[in-house]
Parts: sequence; structure tokens; C-alpha cells
Amino acid sequence: SVPILTIDGPSGSGKGTISRLVAEKLGWRLLDSGALYRAVGYAAGMEGLDLSDAEAVTRCAQTTKIRFQAATDGSDTRVLVNGHDATDELRTETAGAAASAIASIPSVRQALVEMQLGFRKAPGLVADGRDMGTVIFPDAPFKVFLTASAAERAKRRYKQLKEKGLSVTLATLQREIEARDARDASRTVAPLKPAADAVFIDTTGMGIDIVVAKVLAVAQS
Ligand code: CDP
Repeated sequence: SVPILTIDGPSGSGKGTISRLVAEKLGWRLLDSGALYRAVGYAAGMEGLDLSDAEAVTRCAQTTKIRFQAATDGSDTRVLVNGHDATDELRTETAGAAASAIASIPSVRQALVEMQLGFRKAPGLVADGRDMGTVIFPDAPFKVFLTASAAERAKRRYKQLKEKGLSVTLATLQREIEARDARDASRTVAPLKPAADAVFIDTTGMGIDIVVAKVLAVAQS
């Protein structure tokens, strides 16, 4: 069977970067499940839907076409939503908040299950998200839960957005991240929690290389 490494954790824990680097090293595919929720939130917004309208948003999740297009020049993978390159829009905190809102609707999560299972292909999969090791791939042989202090996570995201040329303030970002954390942890649907068999890694004060090495060690154990 196809080996799977799940990497779950809160916003700004470094999941995105670490998952990408680890997938590259292993030569495995990458599932950025957060991008799926962001894409649905974005598509629902484009359609002018009320994000709390479970029925309408579920229909949107079932019909939205999401495609990941790997760049040939080493730049970031593009995300196409109904044929439109929405990569930049999906990175914003507005998209993150919309994702978090629609992700609390059980039928929306259900609508995305098949698509996520479809990423399980040889030679292996690195699955990045919130419920990869608990709900989507509970039988995965390799599981990691990444975390870091809230202040550090806000700082990292700040640096990331700055590098992309997006203008935000650290204080606003920290507030938004804490609000989203609180919502993600308290929701009754797929609340963020480590799988019982996940290796827990607190990355506060750790450089990327060290974290990548620790995660690779899990996948090679
Ligand atoms: O890393 P960050 O939280 O900023 O973004 P993300 O991983 O793209 O996730 C965006 C939002 O989607 C999260 O706040 C979660 O509410 C939701 N999400 C989820 O519910 N389940 C997943 N597997 C991935 C994301």
C-alpha cells in the first residue's frame, strides 16, 4: 500500500513549508488540504453565498473544480479554482477566515473527503492539514503533529506575508491567528487535536532544517 505521512497542526506551525520540503525530499506527492477549504470559501464568496448557509456552501464544495498545477520553473504550485488562478487570493487572511468558517460545516468536510483520498498515490503522500491523521488517513503509518507558541506562529506568518509583498501588521495578524485557533479548537466538527499515535513536535525556536530532519526521521522510522 502507498505510504502516507500526515502532518497536522495549527496555523503558522510551519506545516505548509515543512510538508512541501519533506515531500520534495521523499519524492512523494503533497496534499495541501487547507487549500481545498480556502478554495471552497473563495468560490462561495465569488458566488456571493452566505458562508453560514450550509446547504448552499455544501453544493459549492461539491461542484467547485480545484486543480493544483505544479510550476515547471520551481516557483509555487498554482491553485486553479473553477479554472481561475486564485493562488494569491487564497493566501490572504480573508481566505483563511472564510476557510475556517466553511470548514465547520460537516457536509462541506464530507464533500471534500473523496477528493482528499484521491491524493493517495504511489510512491507516497505527505498530507498537510488539521485532521489528516485523525479523520482522513487514520491508518497512515507516519503521523506528526507540529505546533509552536502563538507569538512565534504569528511572527512566522508575518514574515511570510511580507516576503510575498502583502501588507499586514504583526498585531492584526496575531489577533486573527488567535481568533482562528480558538474557533478551530472549539468547533465540534473535527476540532484540532493530535492523533493518539502522532509524534508531537513543538517547533518554537527551531530552524526549518531541524524540523524537516525530525519529520523525515518519522517517515523513515
Ligand atoms: O495554516 P493555516 O491555518 O493558515 O491555513 P490552512 O492550513 O490553509 O487552513 C485554513 C483553514 O481551513 C483552517 O483554519 C481550518 O479551519 C481549515 N482546515 C480544516 O478544517 N481542515 C483541514 N484539513 C485543513 C484546513
